[in-house]
Amino acid sequence: MLNLIQKRRSCRTFEPKKVEEDKIDQLLKAALWSPTSKNNRPWEFVVVENPEALERLSKCKSHGSAFLSGAPLAIVVLGDPAKSDVWIEDCSIASILMQMTAESVGLGSTWIQIRLRMDDEGNLASENVKKIINAPEPLEVLGIMAFGYKAKEREPYSEEVLLWKRVHYEKF
Ligand SMILES: Cc1cc2nc3c(=O)[nH]c(=O)nc-3n(C[C@H](O)[C@H](O)[C@H](O)COP(=O)(O)O)c2cc1C
Repeated sequence: MLNLIQKRRSCRTFEPKKVEEDKIDQLLKAALWSPTSKNNRPWEFVVVENPEALERLSKCKSHGSAFLSGAPLAIVVLGDPAKSDVWIEDCSIASILMQMTAESVGLGSTWIQIRLRMDDEGNLASENVKKIINAPEPLEVLGIMAFGYKAKEREPYSEEVLLWKRVHYEKF
């Protein structure tokens, strides 16, 4: 697990190769087995492979999502605030577990922040995404996870970047 955590780096350029159904299933299993507060499971996941939809999603906010147009797969992570007051935490856990599972099966990934983000016209990115995927109320979009085969490998994290000074024992 530690090796995978050290190796995982955001990947924003992908090979033009489809992600196999079996691997998509493994990503979804990771999400659907993830822990949630009170076992509420307030999340929903939308798998998007259609290139036109990926192109539209890539334009849902001003910065940091353009590369999605070159990804073969996105999984939109939504939560239901009516089901849980900690849907953000629950959706975040599902998202990172999908990223770690992606790394474990040889896929690259990047988390695209949607919640609280806007497009150039001042529209909420979450509303833009909901329109594209037909998400019903009262769902909120946490983020979009981009997946695919890495076009280039990145260096894993080194021991040097560990911020040990942020760790405190017994008291701050
Ligand atoms: C909550 C969260 C939101 C992020 N949002 C974006 C984003 O919108 N666009 C993007 O390209 N990367 C995004 N990232 C990826 C970060 O930029 C990246 O994880 C960080 O720079 C560290 O690099 P690494 O993933 O290679 O370790 C996000 C990551 C997290 C955890």
